[in-house]
Amino acid sequence: RQYKVAVVGATGAVGEVMLAVLEERGFPIGELVALASERSVGTKVAFGNRQLQVQDLASFDPAGVEIALFSAGGAISREYAPRFAAAGAVVIDNSSAFRQDADVPLVVSEVNPEAAKHRPRGIIANPNCSTMQLLVALAPIHRKAGIERINVATYQSVSGTGRKALEELGRQTAGLLNFQTVDPEVYPVQIAFNVIPHGGDFTDNGYTTEEMKLVDETRKILGDDTIRVNATVVRVPVFYGHSEAVNIETRDKLTAAEARQLLQSAPGVEVVDEPVDGGYPTPVTHASGHDPVYVGRIRDDLSHERGLNLWVVSDNIRKGAALNAVQIAELVAGEG
Ligand code: A2P
Repeated sequence: RQYKVAVVGATGAVGEVMLAVLEERGFPIGELVALASERSVGTKVAFGNRQLQVQDLASFDPAGVEIALFSAGGAISREYAPRFAAAGAVVIDNSSAFRQDADVPLVVSEVNPEAAKHRPRGIIANPNCSTMQLLVALAPIHRKAGIERINVATYQSVSGTGRKALEELGRQTAGLLNFQTVDPEVYPVQIAFNVIPHGGDFTDNGYTTEEMKLVDETRKILGDDTIRVNATVVRVPVFYGHSEAVNIETRDKLTAAEARQLLQSAPGVEVVDEPVDGGYPTPVTHASGHDPVYVGRIRDDLSHERGLNLWVVSDNIRKGAALNAVQIAELVAGEG
């Protein structure tokens, strides 16, 4: 059985990789439609060695589309995802628009795949990139020893902000190396050669939306409202790949050696953990362009009996967005 598939936001940083991952994994596609804004009509996007004409989302008729992958921002999802679902498509939405709705499942394919089956609105939400990689690494530990508290600081790449942010980091870096002054446009302050403790928008409690996603999405995906999550989100001048310094407190004691062994056989995880030069994952040496969630620097917390430290790195556009969306599509297709 082959499916009619639409990618909404096909010209974007995530959309481009959605197309690449659909092709790489041989998703059973009968017909593929690439959709973006009116601005992109007339341009083409790559699908394997084929070129697809980009079509205008606003004037596209969704009748007949069976699976739609959305990554064009929350406003576009809010407007168009229900229309695609009403026309019969299963929508897999990468925006934050529906993630906290009780009747929309929020799915990490390695963690709670069964949740994808119950989708009364025809919409399945794809989690935030930072939550995604965090939970691929932590779910096996949670199942084994019960995580009571997560303390995480992120080191997030600019690709998570979209294509314009990738261009801004390149432009500022080149400009500064040529002794030019640079003006921030996408980020509120200079990102090149800097770190910015700000992701998304500020909320009333002083945290940012990106920080609150780590709190709320973790609880929803693990199905446990008692897990305490403390998050600080930081943007760093890296193109692809988010890193996270993670400290957890478990209910039952789990040693670093036990955690390492557990993670070595965990789905979607690759342990890179040798206490030698380069014996740890980084965005450039491991994650960028690759599928796994890499975990290293696994250590017993010297300050807490049931504490553990981990360093978690993954390609935010792949596992953090496009790959997980395609894995959800595979779950849907696998239902028969
Ligand atoms: P377009 O290239 O035509 O603007 P990114 O996250 O990398 O910035 O990508 C955002 C994606 O969302 C792009 O594919 C972009 O298409 C798409 N998009 C943005 N606004 C709209 C819109 N009004 N209608 C359809 N697609 C949109």
